[in-house]
Formats: sequence, C-alpha cells, structure tokens
Amino acid sequence: MAPTAAGARVPLAVTVFVAVVSSMLLAPAAADLDGDRDALMAMRSGLQDPDDALYTWTPELNTCDWSYVTCDGQANRVTEIKIGHKNLSGPLPPELGKMDQLKKLWISWTNIQGTIPEELGDLENLKSLHLHNNTLSGQIPASLGKLKSLEQLHLQQNRLTGPIPSELAGLPDQMSVDLSSNDLCGPIPTHGPFNNIHPPNGLADNPRLGGNC
Ligand SMILES: *[C@@H]1O[C@H](CO)[C@@H](O)[C@H](O)[C@H]1NC(C)=O
Ligand SMILES: *[C@@H]1O[C@H](CO)[C@@H](O)[C@H](O)[C@H]1NC(C)=O
Repeated sequence: MAPTAAGARVPLAVTVFVAVVSSMLLAPAAADLDGDRDALMAMRSGLQDPDDALYTWTPELNTCDWSYVTCDGQANRVTEIKIGHKNLSGPLPPELGKMDQLKKLWISWTNIQGTIPEELGDLENLKSLHLHNNTLSGQIPASLGKLKSLEQLHLQQNRLTGPIPSELAGLPDQMSVDLSSNDLCGPIPTHGPFNNIHPPNGLADNPRLGGNC
C-alpha cells in the first residue's frame, strides 16, 4: 500500500508546484492587461459620450477589440489610443498613467476638459501625445519632462495656463512640440526642443508667453 500512497503524493506535489510557478509567471501579465482595461474603463466612465462613440468599450469584449484601441499582437497590451472628432466631454483619469506599454495617446478634436494628469509622465514608452483641439485647462505637468521616448507633444488649441515647465527642456532636441493657441505665460525654455522649436509656430498665440505670469 505504501508505494501507492507515495505514488499519489508525488503527482500532487508536482501539480502544486506547477500551479504555483505558473501563477507566478502569469499573474503579472494578467495584472497588466487588467490595468489597461481598468484605465480605459475609468476613462469611459468619467466621460459624457452622448453619441455613444465608445460603445465597444465594455467588459464583455476583449480590450484589444475595442474601437480606437490598438494592441501589441503578442503581449496583448494596449499600445495606441487614437480618438478624434468625437463629442466626448469630461476629464482624463490618472489611471491612464498605468498603461505602461502605450506609445501613442491621441485624443484630439473632442471636448475633453480638466487638467492633464501628471501620471501621464509615467508612460515611459510614450512616443506621441496628441491632446490638441480640446478644452484642457490648468498647467502643463512638469512630469511630462520624464518622457524620454517622446517624439511629438501636441497640446495646441486648449486653455492651458501657467509657465512651460523647465523640465520640458530635458525632452529630446529633435522632437515636435506644439503648444500654440493656449494661454501660457512666463519664460520660454531655451534648451532641448525649445532651442529650435518645431513646428516654427509651435508657441504662437500665447499672448503672455515670454512675459510675467
Ligand atoms: C456634445 O455633448 C454635449 C453633452 O455631453 C451636448 O450638450 C452637446 O450638445 C453635444 N454637442 C454636439 C455638437 O453634438
Ligand atoms: C484645431 O487647431 C488648429 C490650430 O492648431 C486650428 O487652426 C483649428 O481651427 C482647430 N480646429 C478646431 C475644429 O477647433
């Protein structure tokens, strides 16, 4: 009888071991995927969307099948959000800062309001941030200076106020920066992308820029 009991115990131990190891391997990936979905659900629940533009953003569908969302084919992580010309109003949630595989965040020609969450500075893979032609207000977060992969920062045509954070001078030299048509004030940084601003009118139509705040 003893060998049979031992024989039964070994597979059990193996089963437990395999279960523990695979949950250790799979749990972080699952948490990240959930994080992407939670962030987008937080965004959807904070926005008014009378035309139901985001109707596919429901828990019943895989996040990667939602409209305006693009995923990495292998890891199933969200890499792009591109929304334009939709009547969405309301704020961007701080949870967006958890979408750490995001490369493009484009929400333009909508009516999104409120401030730019400082948590967007945590999106270390972000290459382009387009939030132009909205009604965003408040200051540009200094945390955006942490986005060392950034190639495009397009925040024109909003109601942003206050100074351009000096931290943005640490962004890549050759990137495209458009902050035009806001209400920015104070000194213009002279380093990084501000050394040779591109596009050339990227600071235009900020009547108080260069003057006192
Ligand atoms: C956009 O949505 C708001 C409600 O969130 C509504 O008051 C407004 O009329 C809508 N604008 C257009 C152009 O449909
Ligand atoms: C969007 O912004 C551009 C300038 O950046 C402006 O010329 C255009 O009128 C704006 N469009 C809308 C629909 O607000």
